[in-house]
Amino acid sequence: MQKFPLTRKRRLRYSSSIRSLVSENQLTASDLIWPVFVLEGKNKSEEIKSMPGVYRMSQDLLLDKLNHLFELGLKAVALFPVVTENKSEYAEEAYNDDGLVQRTIRTIKLVLPELLVISDVALDPYTLSGQDGLTDEDGYVLNDETISVLTQQAISHAQAGVDIVAPSDMLDGRIIQIRMALEEHDYPHTSILAYSAKYASCFYGPFRDAVGSSGNLGKSTKDSYQMNPANGKEAMDEIAMDIDEGADMVMVKPGMPYLDIISKASEQFNTPIFAYQVSGEYAMLQSAIENGYLEEKKAIMESLLCFKRAGCDAILTYYADRVLEYLNTNDEEE
Ligand code: PBG
Repeated sequence: MQKFPLTRKRRLRYSSSIRSLVSENQLTASDLIWPVFVLEGKNKSEEIKSMPGVYRMSQDLLLDKLNHLFELGLKAVALFPVVTENKSEYAEEAYNDDGLVQRTIRTIKLVLPELLVISDVALDPYTLSGQDGLTDEDGYVLNDETISVLTQQAISHAQAGVDIVAPSDMLDGRIIQIRMALEEHDYPHTSILAYSAKYASCFYGPFRDAVGSSGNLGKSTKDSYQMNPANGKEAMDEIAMDIDEGADMVMVKPGMPYLDIISKASEQFNTPIFAYQVSGEYAMLQSAIENGYLEEKKAIMESLLCFKRAGCDAILTYYADRVLEYLNTNDEEE
């Protein structure tokens, strides 16, 4: 490297124009996926206590929002149902063609056919245990028995017109089974976004309050299928296997405490990598913002830009709606 004063790194930070000219990464509307909590009923909206500023919404209110955000450039929405009734041991509601998720998919695709709809494939909204799969008498989550239910769930979402199914259960071998089933049922264009490196994280706490599964889960954990936060190499194995099994995109989750995993994965693999800025990350940022400890827009934008720098192709974030507003208002600061 040349020596000072031939090299002055500060030359490229001299003005806002030169800074943007040499900027390596940028956050745009096409990077954002908005996760939403859907309620039964009409004209219903409930703020989530541990996620101030995020609401569970009935379909009609959700559609109003989506219409607006689609105008602002939103490309994709990820649906999470709030299921209060019809939970059962075998989670039959998961593949009810007339279930809340299935109906919501149909409605969104009818009104906004170009907005991508992503659906969660996992049984936690539907099991009495609050676990992502079927359980044996000891509460252990059964792998192969669960996969056949997940497959039925994925097919029922595909039938409703979903664009992308997102298995978030972390069981072994589910991607290939879901891929084969989608092909067999003639859904070759339905993509799979595999939650490949999903950690057993306490940062999902507010989400479990939001969908109401924390009560069902009680003191039990998901440690026997989600990954140990101590492990990095294991994540590369999980991702490689899911890609081999036919995943079109892979996900790392949570986001900010796991940027090293995103970065490694983006160096090792050529498949698009998504990350999830999860509920606990939202809660953490938002409470600092509301206390006046962090500046709202700057904190949000920086947290998301850093996902891009780490190598993410898209980010699920509860801030997507706010960021779209920011990106569409041309203020001159920075
Ligand atoms: C469940 C699921 C979870 C999240 C997305 N899908 C929670 C869990 O695994 O317990 C978490 C998302 C968030 O915290 O924002 N299959």
